Amino acid sequence: MSQPALLSPDNRVVMISGASRGIGAAIATRLLADGYRLSLGVREVDRTREAFADTGKDNLAVEYFEANEPESAAAWVDRTLLHFGELHALINNAGIWRQVNFEEGDEAALDDLWAVNVKAPFRLTRLALPHLKKCGIGRIVNIASTDGIRFRDTTCSIGYTMSKHALVAMSHAARHFGYDDGVRATALCPGAVATGMVATVPGVTPLAERLAPETVAHTVATLLSLPNNASVAWMPLNTRLESTV
Ligand SMILES: NC(=O)c1ccc[n+]([C@@H]2O[C@H](COP(=O)([O-])OP(=O)(O)OC[C@H]3O[C@@H](n4cnc5c(N)ncnc54)[C@H](OP(=O)(O)O)[C@@H]3O)[C@@H](O)[C@H]2O)c1
Repeated sequence: MSQPALLSPDNRVVMISGASRGIGAAIATRLLADGYRLSLGVREVDRTREAFADTGKDNLAVEYFEANEPESAAAWVDRTLLHFGELHALINNAGIWRQVNFEEGDEAALDDLWAVNVKAPFRLTRLALPHLKKCGIGRIVNIASTDGIRFRDTTCSIGYTMSKHALVAMSHAARHFGYDDGVRATALCPGAVATGMVATVPGVTPLAERLAPETVAHTVATLLSLPNNASVAWMPLNTRLESTV
């Protein structure tokens, strides 16, 4: 069968974790405007419902998701399927930054990074994959980082960098496991984005040069529009000149 030039948003259901603020909220705003049906997985359900109160309610479900509670991932997937009956894409966006290097930060912080940035996306991917395969055009976008594909310098969090490298590895695995059934998985790797997360991060790109969350959202929308014969394994989106990223 010949592939379409681009896929339409019409009737496609997308799950987005961590859509309460920052990049996740920008992705949700953009995809709703494009006509997708969305299931947002957030810790603060009421606050997020309120934030999206003006947008098409028929196209939106807001559900509880806490990355540290495995049962909340299963419940979110179940409720998404109850609400919409199908699933076409998963955006693993929820994430945290902690400073963990050879001198600062403890193992508890390392465990937090692993739990939120790696284990939770792994768990959601495992739960979503059968449904993504079923539709024949399933998509997974993992919001990794430029820190997922290189180690920039000694000001960086080794723990965060390790967690994002692991997320990129998981993206590659998801692409392999879903490929024959039309699932395409991308590790999207932005540099600094102007959200609360990086306000105090050492060595970060200056504020005026950071990506807008809307730019990342636009990139996600583009990735979701690509047909099955345009697989993007990973995509750096840097704010500055570096030798390989
Ligand atoms: N900002 C950057 O420069 C940058 C660059 C590259 C990649 N990224 C990645 O992009 C993603 C979004 O980051 P952001 O900049 O938008 O950060 P942010 O503004 O701090 O937002 C983080 C989001 O993740 C959610 N979250 C955090 N811990 C959670 C948990 N335990 N369970 C469920 N949700 C949780 C937050 O929910 P609450 O509102 O409930 O806290 C919030 O919605 C992250 O994966 C981050 O690593 C960010």
